Amino acid sequence: MKTAFVTGGSRGIGLAIVKELGRAGFRVALMATREEEHYPESSRQLKESGVDYLWLTGDISSSSDRERVVTEAFKEFGRIDVLVNNAGVAPKLRADLLTMTEESYDYVMDTNTKANMFITQRVAREMTAQEPVDGRKGIIINISSCSAEVSSVNRGEYCISKAGISMLTLLYADRLAGEGILVYEVRPGVIRTDMTKKVEEKYSGLIGQGLFPIARWGTPEDVARAVRAFASGDFPYTTGSYIDVDGGFHIKRL
Ligand SMILES: NC(=O)c1ccc[n+]([C@@H]2O[C@H](COP(=O)([O-])OP(=O)(O)OC[C@H]3O[C@@H](n4cnc5c(N)ncnc54)[C@H](OP(=O)(O)O)[C@@H]3O)[C@@H](O)[C@H]2O)c1
Repeated sequence: MKTAFVTGGSRGIGLAIVKELGRAGFRVALMATREEEHYPESSRQLKESGVDYLWLTGDISSSSDRERVVTEAFKEFGRIDVLVNNAGVAPKLRADLLTMTEESYDYVMDTNTKANMFITQRVAREMTAQEPVDGRKGIIINISSCSAEVSSVNRGEYCISKAGISMLTLLYADRLAGEGILVYEVRPGVIRTDMTKKVEEKYSGLIGQGLFPIARWGTPEDVARAVRAFASGDFPYTTGSYIDVDGGFHIKRL
């Protein structure tokens, strides 16, 4: 049975990814900040979907927590075929670029970008030592955002953190291709989750005004299906590439 490790699998997009990979036949280790009992609805959904999952707890921005959780996942599963770097945060307060604090910058960059860099490094080292399956030692999928390219001046630290993930994707794709490890990026647009709850009215208004060619909110399942496609191994001659899951938002229009 193939195995996957999904960061931030307790809610939203990550939870949908865990379920989707589970349905595709993966055993899935997920990481969240708190124990399963704190997420009764997610726990119910996971049990109902029949996914074979392992719930791991830690703060991804902490080096020692990352080390402990990855060690536990390898100990339990023996190998990790697919790593999905999904955990992420928005700034606690949306502040203009001219007033953004260093504290907020560090919080967002440490959680979104630094954690992605070093969890990938840790897992990739182990992947390189794994026996290849179907000609591959592993697949790594980063969840960035349309914000990797789209400017939002009231949450610049988030945009920078996601642009950094796009470069991490290219760097690791380049470094790991010769090791038999493929690296991809999924760029969600506006997806209905806890992260977008605070700005639900604003985004619903913009969608109503035709901001996206596909005129609806994205769902966590939309993103999960793209992740499953990359995780399937069906792109063996592709690495360092991304797919937009954004209703066509990236299309420049007149
Ligand atoms: N929603 C959107 O419109 C959208 C658009 C583009 C990109 N994205 C990206 O997609 C990813 C998932 O977003 P989402 O909307 O599903 O967000 P969400 O509903 O807020 O869920 C975030 C997930 O990340 C985990 N997480 C956050 N900080 C963590 C930490 N320090 N250590 C470990 N886990 C941590 C959370 O765990 P806990 O439950 O324990 O807090 C949770 O599972 C993020 O990287 C986000 O930037 C989202």
